[in-house]
Amino acid sequence: MINLNDLKDIIEEIKSRCDIVDVISDYMHIEKSGSNYTGLCPFHTEKTGSFMVSKSKQIYKCFGCNAGGDVISFVMRWENVDFMEAVKILAKRCGITLNRNISEEERQKIQEINKFREIHTEAARFYFANLLSRKNPGYEYLKKRGLSDKIIKRFGLGYSLNSWNSLMNHLLAKGYDKADLVKCGLVTHKSETNKYYDRFRNRVMFPIFNYNGKVIGFGGRVLDDSLPKYLNSPETLIFNKRLNLYGLNISKKSIKDDTLILVEGYMDLISLYQNNIENVVATLGTALTIGQAKLIRKFAKNVIISYDSDQAGQNATLRAIDILLQADIKVKILNLKDCKDPDDFIKKYGFEGYKKAIDESDYYIKFKIDILKNKYNLQNDTQKMSFVEEATLLLRKLKSPIEKDLYAKYLSDLTNISIESIRANVGIKVKSNYNNSKNNTNNRKIEQMSKIQNGYLKVEAKFIKLLMENKKLRNSVLMDYEIEDFLFGDTKEIFDYIIKNKELDKITIDKIKSLNISEEYVKTIQSIPIEEINTYTLEGTKKIIDQIRKNIIDDEIKSMSDEIKQLSNKLELLKKNNDNTKEVDDKIMNLSLEILKREKIKKDL
Ligand code: UTP
Ligand code: MN
Repeated sequence: MINLNDLKDIIEEIKSRCDIVDVISDYMHIEKSGSNYTGLCPFHTEKTGSFMVSKSKQIYKCFGCNAGGDVISFVMRWENVDFMEAVKILAKRCGITLNRNISEEERQKIQEINKFREIHTEAARFYFANLLSRKNPGYEYLKKRGLSDKIIKRFGLGYSLNSWNSLMNHLLAKGYDKADLVKCGLVTHKSETNKYYDRFRNRVMFPIFNYNGKVIGFGGRVLDDSLPKYLNSPETLIFNKRLNLYGLNISKKSIKDDTLILVEGYMDLISLYQNNIENVVATLGTALTIGQAKLIRKFAKNVIISYDSDQAGQNATLRAIDILLQADIKVKILNLKDCKDPDDFIKKYGFEGYKKAIDESDYYIKFKIDILKNKYNLQNDTQKMSFVEEATLLLRKLKSPIEKDLYAKYLSDLTNISIESIRANVGIKVKSNYNNSKNNTNNRKIEQMSKIQNGYLKVEAKFIKLLMENKKLRNSVLMDYEIEDFLFGDTKEIFDYIIKNKELDKITIDKIKSLNISEEYVKTIQSIPIEEINTYTLEGTKKIIDQIRKNIIDDEIKSMSDEIKQLSNKLELLKKNNDNTKEVDDKIMNLSLEILKREKIKKDL
């Protein structure tokens, strides 16, 4: 045990040995710029680098999210560990041995994490030895699936024996506690009979590593068609399915073109890897989460989704697209043609085939349009129109005008509707002499708009605050609501979090802050007096919800009226040139009808 003063000395020593630029470069890409280094901030999503590292001052600072500090605080945030754990990581890095001086509770937790990791490593070794040291059905199975010995070793695959207690006995003999094995999810305890047995039996074992290469859990596959096909470790102190990705420990070394390929299955990933496609990660048997997307974003800007081609895979792809976009990732979709999954595909078409599919992978919007198209019969005019309307909504959400135009063209080709009318519908500005309208009117408009936006923001934030504070209300309104029902990205993100944590009694503002929510939004939440929230009944809450719906409708009406304005400009031009105006006339008429419809809904709310 060392005293506090000694600890201070040691920390100074560590800081002098661990140069902040070296340490941060090991975690992420930074570039020299003048006397400093800059990069994309890993602690919030951004497109231009506001993250700065100063070699002379030995500090980092993000001007976007205000994160900042010294090398220790960087490691704390990145690794999501406490101060002492960060000191330990750095001490190890520069060869200092450290006796710790921390609270008893902290010490116990750290010890437990280390012990659980050891247990998992030991279990992985045991399964691995079972697979490779003697003849067994697990090895035969993997051979039948075409895996080489080299790849089996690379991924540390293993086999759990067809016995009730072999792993447990092995680990007990090593001196571990039965209770700990249960806490690790490797041994199951049946309380009715007070019996203990191995969770994984007669399965091929896939150790799951965190991105630093520590075993944190397992997936186990049956050797035949019985169910469940895969059994996974439960959530434990060291295993969180929602925050980890299979294979990242390996693929982070082979990222190409700033791109990672995302697959659904362990076997897909391994099979691709064996065929030299190495920049792949897989989810862990659950839908992709925002936490996983943010983890990906630390390593790559682009993701190519390569999920199964069946209906379930397509639905999962649609969900994953939205999550990845939220994390500011560029998304493309790989087409598996006639194959059901990447494993199948690469077996049939090989490395070259998959490489070609990567090069030909479509921007996500095209995938969405194609999926949408399948819901309609384009031979029928009414259906064709509905299809175009829906597809237009998708295109309108695109930020870049070039993208909008590109896919307006695609939509036009699909439907044989003229590119001009689709462009107009998507809100791509048609050249006109209206563009140089007076500046002061413009400014006034912007001011007005932001006032309205502010009102919208307050209503959504109030609703969020209600959900944070009041568990009862939460349960009675959550079901009626969807992420799409909100205007603000921050609301969507928090709402998603609340849905997933709806059992918590109270959701604190600190939790919300940890979601990378904008400061303005957090402030708005905080500015709502708690007394006001506490007086709300179900009825009062419904009123807020109605207000949010009104906001959404207002927003739609506004964008439609903007469009009508643009179309009217166009109409004038057409008239001037004596061109056919029917199409534009119809469009304006339709939009006006849509607006009327919405005004009516608004009245009924
Ligand atoms: P798949 O059914 O596509 O499995 O499920 P796979 O990885 O392609 O395996 P093979 O080729 O049939 O052997 C995709 C992923 O979903 C999770 C696993 O993570 C699996 O890799 N899963 C699937 C489960 O967790 N449990 C299951 O019962 C099935
Ligand atoms: Mn599969």
